[in-house]
Amino acid sequence: MDERTIKKMIKTAMEQIRFSYAPYSDFKVGASLLSENGDIFTGCNIENAAYSPTNCAERTAFFKAVSKGVRDFQAICIVGGKSGNVTEYITPCGVCRQVMMEFCNPETFQIILAVDEEHYRILTLKELLPLGFGAEDIS
Ligand code: THU
Repeated sequence: MDERTIKKMIKTAMEQIRFSYAPYSDFKVGASLLSENGDIFTGCNIENAAYSPTNCAERTAFFKAVSKGVRDFQAICIVGGKSGNVTEYITPCGVCRQVMMEFCNPETFQIILAVDEEHYRILTLKELLPLGFGAEDIS
C-alpha cells in the first residue's frame, strides 16, 4: 500500500466516526475496508439496548462489502475513542479478527491502526490472530 492510499484510508475511517451509534458505551469507532480492486467500504459501530447484537465498525464494513459480492480485501483501517476523540490506537476485537480470517489471507491482510494521518501502525492479520482457525482448516 502506498502512502497516499494509507492516508485516504485513515481519512475515510475518521469520517465514519460521526455515524457511530454508541449510546451505551459512547465509544465511537469508524472503519474503512480496502477491497482487492481498490474500492473502499465503510463502517461504524452500531450498538443495541440488548448489548450482544452490537456490531463493531470493522464487521459493519465487511458485511457491507460481502453483501455486495465483494470478498477479496487488502486492508482495513480502524479509528475510534471515547466520545469520538481519537487519542490512542484501537485494535479489533476477537470476533472481528475471526471475521477477517474468513475472507482474508492472514499473511498479507493489513490492519491499519491510526490516531491521525501522520500517526499509524500497520500489522498483518497473522500478527493479531496467530494460528487463526479458517476455512482451510475444515476443508
Ligand atoms: N468496537 C468497535 O467497533 N471496534 C473495535 O475494534 C473495538 C470495539 C465497538 C464495540 C462497542 O460499540 C464499543 O466499541 C465499545 O466496545
